[in-house]
Amino acid sequence: MAQLTLPSNSVVKQGKTYDAPAGGTQLKKFVIYRYTPDDGENPRTDTYSIDLASCGPMVLDALIMIKDEIDSSLSFRRSCREGICGSCSMNIDGRNTLACLKRIDEVKGDVKVYPLPHMPVVKDLVPDLTNFYAQYGSIKPWIRTQTPAPPDRERLQSQEDRAKLKGLEECILCACCSTSCPSYWWNGDRYLGPAALLQAYRWIADSRDETTGERLDDLEDPFKLYRCHTIMNCTNTCPKTLNPGKAIAEIKKLIAMRRL
Ligand code: SF4
Ligand code: SF4
Ligand code: FES
Repeated sequence: MAQLTLPSNSVVKQGKTYDAPAGGTQLKKFVIYRYTPDDGENPRTDTYSIDLASCGPMVLDALIMIKDEIDSSLSFRRSCREGICGSCSMNIDGRNTLACLKRIDEVKGDVKVYPLPHMPVVKDLVPDLTNFYAQYGSIKPWIRTQTPAPPDRERLQSQEDRAKLKGLEECILCACCSTSCPSYWWNGDRYLGPAALLQAYRWIADSRDETTGERLDDLEDPFKLYRCHTIMNCTNTCPKTLNPGKAIAEIKKLIAMRRL
């Protein structure tokens, strides 16, 4: 697969411009990153003018309108339209977020839409998340036990223990945090990044999991965990208002405490 890594400061040439429909009353321009592996015009930005009077309020509504009515070649991911599936993550107005949760009227001037930064691009706004998902898989995101399950019921959890997962289990793996993290930009092959580490802590914090020591052993590594330098871009950008920076700090604390 042809791939392009997009540095945040890359110079992208101007491509096609699509004028607004005649008679439009609330015109807004969308400047959108375009990359197609085989068209020899990469990368570029195309500019689409649309009439907000006939468009929904979110950036995803505008992208769907552009694809349906102006340029069917535009590619992006989306599914739920509700901030739940995590597939419409992209960089809008200089910030990683979910297109379905980003209101158009929050953006002053033209709406600039780019793929998540520093990831290989498959096409247009679609990044290649193969490495991201492999890193997620590497933290073994499921309950691991050593004792036999109770014969007549599930492994129960008290309300207090369930509350410890609050702020962790809501993660939708959109990758906004990891792709905003400078340490992940430079060492994404070896540093797990804030999303995978928040998920790692989610299973460490689960009272039903019986492999905490093994999980901490796996993470105690100069690259996997300790490339986090507490810059907190991750927490600042999370569209679900989670705090991966804090989850990473909790893992470091647990590792430090067991050395005492
Ligand atoms: S922590 Fe937030 S930004 Fe990071 S993957 Fe989860 S939901 Fe997305
Ligand atoms: S706190 Fe850590 S994970 Fe978050 S942006 Fe900073 S270096 Fe990256
Ligand atoms: S479409 Fe599912 S999170 Fe945006």
